[in-house]
Amino acid sequence: GAGEGEGGPLVTFKAVPTSESDEIIVPEGYSYQVILPWGTPITGSMPAFDLANTGEEQGMQMGSHHDGMHFFPIEGEEPFEGSSDEGLLVMNHEYVEPRFMHLDHIGQELGSGAVIMKGDVRDRDQALKEINAHGVSVVHIRKRSDNRWELVQSDYNRRITGRTHMELAGPVRGSDLVRTKYSPDGIATRGTLNNCAMGVTPWNTYMAAEENWAGYFRNRDAEIPREHANYGIRANDSRYRWALAEGGEDEFIRFDATSTGASATEDYRNEPNCFGWMVEIDPFDPDSTPIKRTTLGRFGHEGVVFGPAIEGQPVVCYSGDDSTNQFIYKFVSEQPFQKGVTDGSILDTGILYVAKFNDDGSGEWLPLVYGQNGLDAGNGFRDQADVLVNTRLAAGLMGATPMDRPEWGAVDPNNGDVYFTLTNNSGRSEPNGANPRTQNRHGHIIRWQEANGNHASTTFDWDIFIFGGDAGESGQANLAGKDANGDALTADNLLSSPDGLWIDKDSRVWIQTDIGEGNQNSGVFEVFGNNAMLCADPATGEMRRFLTGPIGQEVTGVITTPDQKTMFINIQHPGATTTPQEWAAGQRYVRSTWPDRNPVRVPPRSATVVIWKDDGGVIGT
Ligand code: FEO
Ligand code: CA
Ligand code: CA
Ligand code: CA
Repeated sequence: GAGEGEGGPLVTFKAVPTSESDEIIVPEGYSYQVILPWGTPITGSMPAFDLANTGEEQGMQMGSHHDGMHFFPIEGEEPFEGSSDEGLLVMNHEYVEPRFMHLDHIGQELGSGAVIMKGDVRDRDQALKEINAHGVSVVHIRKRSDNRWELVQSDYNRRITGRTHMELAGPVRGSDLVRTKYSPDGIATRGTLNNCAMGVTPWNTYMAAEENWAGYFRNRDAEIPREHANYGIRANDSRYRWALAEGGEDEFIRFDATSTGASATEDYRNEPNCFGWMVEIDPFDPDSTPIKRTTLGRFGHEGVVFGPAIEGQPVVCYSGDDSTNQFIYKFVSEQPFQKGVTDGSILDTGILYVAKFNDDGSGEWLPLVYGQNGLDAGNGFRDQADVLVNTRLAAGLMGATPMDRPEWGAVDPNNGDVYFTLTNNSGRSEPNGANPRTQNRHGHIIRWQEANGNHASTTFDWDIFIFGGDAGESGQANLAGKDANGDALTADNLLSSPDGLWIDKDSRVWIQTDIGEGNQNSGVFEVFGNNAMLCADPATGEMRRFLTGPIGQEVTGVITTPDQKTMFINIQHPGATTTPQEWAAGQRYVRSTWPDRNPVRVPPRSATVVIWKDDGGVIGT
């Protein structure tokens, strides 16, 4: 069972201490290499990274803000456990930082996310560059004889961006809620945005989650429909203001969801309804069209994690809505899983459930089905497409349990336990059993076992795996960390704001932290240092800090090669704690110069880190 593998204890590396340095720190006996920073050319005419790169050039380079990631061994056939020396690294690019991206923004007094306007409009090519720095990268990589990895120039290499043509599948396809000027019959849209974590299907495709997409739109109508309002679309302003790009082309105008035409097919009032989905991508077919699988619901998808697929049984996957007091969902397919059927359409029919965590440690999955339990005309629902477009509303009406921001999920491959990080919720005033701390600043990790060990069950039993927090010095219950044995966290494992999560073949639980940049290294968060990655053994409760990252970043995305001897992680938004005041002081790249160490010419860049053990051993030992 978990923790009792032939090799003895699972977690045997020496813990690294907390860090405030602008470095990657790994345990003794481990080494690392930085690859594929933002702007690395991967396809097309392979334009070299330069701050003067155009929007078109950005579309041939690695995007920015690397996040969820998977390594697909180059042999694409079942059981998908092939090469540990060559494969496709596929990763999300969650967002961009204009103050690090454009020559005329650098050195200006700009806060995070702020953009410089040209009067009332935005520079067209800057908007294009930002859209092309979003999305997903597919990169063919190969291990060299010295453990280092290199890019392979290959037809597999691909950029999917915020403007790539995509199709909608499932009940929302063809609904009048997704008809736009771009797709009057409501079957297609352009691009994927704010892709946070991901999932890997049992048929070896990649799923990118659309998380904080709502901020990219605005809607100036006097009345904002519920499918916009419930997701936080604002009336007058939007992240990056792409709708204001000079020239007024449709591909920018679409970020303004105001009703300007006579009908929905003459404007983009429904464009936001084409976002908030899980997007399936076949990395082995560079010509494939990404597909938004609407049966999995529309919300702030952090990611998706599949239960092990069993021939003849339904396919089951779990997904969290990372927003304060939102919910955890699971999808159960109507059709049985069949090996060799790889078109993904099994995700288009089935039931989406939302989780209710009872205070006594039991739980229930509540179905979101049109016509059942009040999801009908009495609450303004017209059909199943309407229920799915308004997933948050439907889940709330069903009595789902409001959670402390569900981030990544993971399934233990050895016993089927499901884990979800609940990153934090400092505003919580009404605790519940599964979210027991008021002002939960440091988050926790919840765990459940489905009834009869069957992922398709509609009931489960849950417990709390660990509580984030400090070593307990303050005596305040909402600040104290606890490990899986209920013991206080120590200098070797205190952590705050768990986010990234993955469980390896031996049941090691890998936990990545994301203390927000406004809190990092200050106040009650100072004790945690920079964001980090830890490793826990669920059988013994042992937990140790494995890696600390540079200044201002979060550690996110984690996978190993099948032999577990190479690990890939991402470092996202290094230097994000830089303030406008520091910029104004005339320094270019203050705080972090990771990884280029070129403080005048190169901004801090998100990048992938490859980690190996010098003795060739399994990562974590
Ligand atoms: Fe993009 Fe919830 O982290
Ligand atoms: Ca996250
Ligand atoms: Ca983040
Ligand atoms: Ca986060």
